[in-house]
Amino acid sequence: MTADVIGLVGSPRKKANTDLLVQKILEGVETTGLRVQKFYLHDLQILPCRYCGYCRNHPSCCIQDDMEILYAAVEGCRGLVVGTPTFYGDITAQTKLFIDRCYRYVEVVLHPDGRVTFPSRLTSRRLGMMVGVTGSFGPETFTKQIEVIKLLFNDLNAELVDQLLYTGTDFLPVKDNPEILTLAWNKGVTLGQRIIQEFSRER
Ligand SMILES: Cc1cc2nc3c(=O)[nH]c(=O)nc-3n(C[C@H](O)[C@H](O)[C@H](O)COP(=O)(O)O)c2cc1C
Repeated sequence: MTADVIGLVGSPRKKANTDLLVQKILEGVETTGLRVQKFYLHDLQILPCRYCGYCRNHPSCCIQDDMEILYAAVEGCRGLVVGTPTFYGDITAQTKLFIDRCYRYVEVVLHPDGRVTFPSRLTSRRLGMMVGVTGSFGPETFTKQIEVIKLLFNDLNAELVDQLLYTGTDFLPVKDNPEILTLAWNKGVTLGQRIIQEFSRER
């Protein structure tokens, strides 16, 4: 059985800042009775998108690797939390590998008037949350990451309902900051409650 809410950790480091924040959010979600599951992207074999075009003519990807696990988890979930540290001003390579392979979920539609739209192929809706972490300071360092997560969430038919952006892990790691851990937990509770509220109405 797949989880109601999944958490994806884009840091290669277990129990570091991104992992702790995603973990706390999932713990908050769990208190609402929803099932959660965390995935370490670094532990999975995710090959890069080849842009072979297969998914333009099929509803799936032709590469056989651990993305099969994540595809099932994404399709079965009602909420997802994507956490990535900043590496050179951007998301990590692990996160990017996952995102590119989600191209199978988007349709590229060219309209007669020249407009191009990108509807998701997923008919089921989900709520999404982003966790961003940087070593130094400056909220502007998240601009690029937020944009790419928004593109991902569009393709996954996920609404970005919340974000948790933490700067300065070099100076105050998350493990030494009880306030941010409590905030993460509270955000998880809110996410869980919102999922229960929204999706019980849809049934
Ligand atoms: C290759 C690499 C590039 C990084 N680039 C940046 C950066 O551009 N800006 C920044 O603030 N921190 C940067 N950092 C620091 C990480 O964002 C920071 O240590 C973060 O806490 C790592 O996430 P984690 O603790 O969850 O592993 C970089 C770290 C590495 C290893």
